[in-house]
Amino acid sequence: MSAARAQFDEAGRLRHLLTLEAMPPRLILELLDTAAALAAATGGKVKKLPLLRGRTVVNLFFEPSTRTRTSFELAASRLSAEVVNFDVAQSSTTKGETVLDTLRTLEAMHCDLFVVRHRENGTPEYLARHAGPGVAIVNAGDGNHAHPTQGLLDAYTIRHHKGPEFGRLRVAIVGDIAHSRVARSAIHVLTALGVGELRVCGPAALLPRDLGPAIAVSSDLDAILDGVDVVMMLRLQRERMRETEVPDAADYHARYGLDRRRLALARPDAIVMHPGPMNRGVEIASEVADGPQSVILDQVSNGLVVRMAVMARLVGAGNVAG
Ligand code: NCD
Repeated sequence: MSAARAQFDEAGRLRHLLTLEAMPPRLILELLDTAAALAAATGGKVKKLPLLRGRTVVNLFFEPSTRTRTSFELAASRLSAEVVNFDVAQSSTTKGETVLDTLRTLEAMHCDLFVVRHRENGTPEYLARHAGPGVAIVNAGDGNHAHPTQGLLDAYTIRHHKGPEFGRLRVAIVGDIAHSRVARSAIHVLTALGVGELRVCGPAALLPRDLGPAIAVSSDLDAILDGVDVVMMLRLQRERMRETEVPDAADYHARYGLDRRRLALARPDAIVMHPGPMNRGVEIASEVADGPQSVILDQVSNGLVVRMAVMARLVGAGNVAG
């Protein structure tokens, strides 16, 4: 809960984005509405808006990333910010500089917003607690703790396809829940928005025990998929497992992989989501990933406007909520 508090200033304004845990639903909806307004303003085209003119955004990624880093970079640049992609592998981090000294060094060059991904839970919160006045931290994924912009883009995508009445929706999240910050942020945002039913599914060893009574938990994928409106598939996060814990890929696919037969158990208009990167043939079959119910690439497109909305909210000029 401490990250939930650390992201607000004394006046209760959002100063950093660290987690969606305990995020007021009104604020979530404001961010989604701003993203929708930005999507309408840019008309799906590459058009620069001046909201972050004169601001500098630093991408500080201590873990690999394809879509999240690129998405933040493009989002910042479409808001007219200057963007620095800090190359950790080529930086003084490799000479033993602490992450806080790295932050202070970049702050001294008048950077305004830091997008931080780190393998350790709590690193973005730690930096937020030490950030100078006016400097904002956005968590782009910390350990298995949180990935708030992913949660927001997932909610945006669901709303876009299924409408604003989350109370009518049944959502299944399937895969390596235990190691997934994406699952945690999805659970927080969907709960805040009043989702009708939330079900999670995966091998017993990859299911956390602390999800609370409101969430149905099972290792029986066919049962979990029955009648759902949204299926969110997750990758096996091998990098967070010991060698002996990694399930056999073929075995895993047979029990937990989403293929066309299984998808037919969901509602006929169900959408299929995946945060990427996908492991085709493991958690998801290509026939589904590339099939008509897949909204996986929509998620990627929506990530851009959602991240624009977040950055505009934290360090943008004027009110962009309209
Ligand atoms: C995820 C992540 O890094 O948490 N990817 C992403 O940001 N879209 C999920 C994953 O790595 O499996």
